[in-house]
Amino acid sequence: MTANDQASRLRNMARQQIPEATLFSSRVMAVTSGKGGVGKTNVVAGLAMALAQTGQRVAVLDADFGLANLDILLGLSPTHTLEHVLRGEKVLEEIILDGPMGIRMIPASSGIQELTRLDTAAELRLIQGLQRVSETTDWMLIDTAAGIHDSVIKLLLAAQEVLLVTTPEPTSLVDAYAMVKVMHLRDPQKPIWLLINNAQSEEEAEETIEQLQAATRRFLDRELKTLGMIPSDPCLLQSVREQRGVVERFPRSPSAMAFRQIADQLKKKVPLQKDGFASFWKQLSFEES
Ligand SMILES: Nc1ncnc2c1ncn2[C@@H]1O[C@H](COP(=O)(O)OP(=O)(O)OP(=O)(O)O)[C@@H](O)[C@H]1O
Ligand SMILES: [Mg+2]
Repeated sequence: MTANDQASRLRNMARQQIPEATLFSSRVMAVTSGKGGVGKTNVVAGLAMALAQTGQRVAVLDADFGLANLDILLGLSPTHTLEHVLRGEKVLEEIILDGPMGIRMIPASSGIQELTRLDTAAELRLIQGLQRVSETTDWMLIDTAAGIHDSVIKLLLAAQEVLLVTTPEPTSLVDAYAMVKVMHLRDPQKPIWLLINNAQSEEEAEETIEQLQAATRRFLDRELKTLGMIPSDPCLLQSVREQRGVVERFPRSPSAMAFRQIADQLKKKVPLQKDGFASFWKQLSFEES
């Protein structure tokens, strides 16, 4: 038996350590964009809070290995990350931070890129940790780095659903299309939800949606699922300055209302996945590209 065969046998054994009875239903959604700075991190924080407000148990995974700043928006300061779990220095529960409204954050920005080359012991540690977290979680929202990097694409492919954020700006729209195209070529079945952020009006958002849909229809022969828009909102900017989520800080603001409305749509439209977390992990660590 070659070293490779042996490694893959060990991996399979690690996978089989998930007893069927302990797989819990949850939804795993990765938030992405083509262009940077379009509002992904704010969307993760806003949706996490809007979902949490309706009693959903939410965990957020900060997987932006460029500039991790979800912690800032949630008013948290992580001292340890997934890297420490993978090295065996911490268990997952020890790095998870308790944020506002019961939202739990897994700081993964450093460590997430190592996920594809774990040894068996590290895999087991991670899978058992994720299993324990999934027992008390309805949603895992993943904040990613912008752009079409291979490690980002892997994360997106592993997630059950992808939420693509774009602003109405032509540059953001072109990059959003590029992202859809890359995703589509890798997995044409992957559900992609389109969300327009920072729109000046409903009309502008609708136009943006139609432009992107026209391109995907014509060149990829597919329609994106749409979630509508988050308006451009000074209250959101103010809440970022205060390191608070807009949903909590200015609940009556236009963007907070939009987040709540989108959270309701997500609850209705996104199906529960039987082993959401475990399946995400398996795909992430076994996807070869
Ligand atoms: N709806 C909105 N109204 C007003 N300002 C917004 C809105 N959405 C985002 N912003 C502002 O846009 C900036 C970028 O937002 P954010 O950090 O969430 O983007 P990002 O896509 O996560 O960026 P990066 O690619 O760097 O991770 C922030 O200053 C934020 O306050
Ligand atoms: Mg961000």
